[in-house]
Amino acid sequence: MDVLTLPAYGKINLTLKVLGRRSDGYHDLSTIFQSIALADILTFSRCREGIRLETSGLPVPEGPENLAYRAAARLQSRYGFPGVRITLKKQIPLAAGLAGGSADAAATLIGVNTLFNLGLTPGQLAREGAALGSDVPFCVIGGTALGRGRGEELSLLPPLPTLWLVLVKPSFGVSTADVYRGWDASPGPNPLEAPDEERALAAIRRGDLAGILASLGNDLEAVTCRLYPEVMAIKMRLLAEGAERAVMCGSGPAVFGVAADGETARRIASRLQETYPETIVTRTL
Ligand code: C5P
Repeated sequence: MDVLTLPAYGKINLTLKVLGRRSDGYHDLSTIFQSIALADILTFSRCREGIRLETSGLPVPEGPENLAYRAAARLQSRYGFPGVRITLKKQIPLAAGLAGGSADAAATLIGVNTLFNLGLTPGQLAREGAALGSDVPFCVIGGTALGRGRGEELSLLPPLPTLWLVLVKPSFGVSTADVYRGWDASPGPNPLEAPDEERALAAIRRGDLAGILASLGNDLEAVTCRLYPEVMAIKMRLLAEGAERAVMCGSGPAVFGVAADGETARRIASRLQETYPETIVTRTL
C-alpha cells in the first residue's frame, strides 16, 4: 500500500456527567460519545525519515503542537518506522468541543499502523491514544459508546437512529482545562439541563429517538455558559429557529441543535449562518 486516505470523524456527547475531580487533576466522567459525519481528511504515505505534516483548510500547526504529529511520533518512537508524510484537510472547527484534534490523532494511529503493518490491535491503538488525550480512544473506536474514567474506559453501545444536527461555533474557542477549572469552582450543574444517562442508555438500546432527545444534557454547559454567555445565546437561537433540543458539545463552545430532518436542519442553519459563519449541518453516524 502506497497511500492511505482516512476520514477523522468528530464527536458530540449525548450526555456528559462530571463525577468529581481526581487526585491527578483530571475529572472522572460518565459520558455517551457519538461520532458525527463531519470529518477531517488525512492521507498517509511513506517517506525516507521523520514526520512531515502538511495541512489545508482551517489553519492548524504543522509541528509537534499538532496532535496528529504527536500520534505519529509516539508510534515511531515505540514501534519504529522510517518516516511518514501526512496531509491533513482540516474541516472540524478548532477548540470547539468536537474532538477534532483527537480525531486526527486517532486517524493517524490507525493510518500509520496500517501503512507500516505494525500489527497493533484496535484495543492497543486506543491505549496508545489515551496517552495523547482523553477523547482519542473513543475516536479510535468510533460509533456510539459509554465513556468512564477520563473518558478512555469505553463500552460500545448499539448504533443510534440518525439525528440531524446543526453545529454552531462562536468565533472564539475554549480551553478544556479552563472549563474543568471552572467546574471545580462552581456550585454545581444546572439542574434544568441535567443529563439523564440511564434514560439515554435505555432509549439507545430500544432505538427510541424521543427518549434519546429527552435525556440529552451536559454538566459542563452551565460552566462554559457562565464563562462565555454567548454559548447560552446560541442555544436559545437554535431553539427559537426550530431545533428540538440544543446542547453544548464536550467542553464547548460549539452547540449542537437537533433538527427533525435534513431539510429542517439546513433551514435552521441558513438562519444561524448570518450571525455565526461556523454553522455546519451534519448528522450522527
Ligand atoms: O486529556 P486532554 O488532553 O484532552 O485534557 C485536556 C485538559 O482537560 C486536561 O489537562 C484537564 O485539565 C482537563 N480534563 C479533565 N478531565 C477529563 C478530561 C480533561 O480535567 N476527564
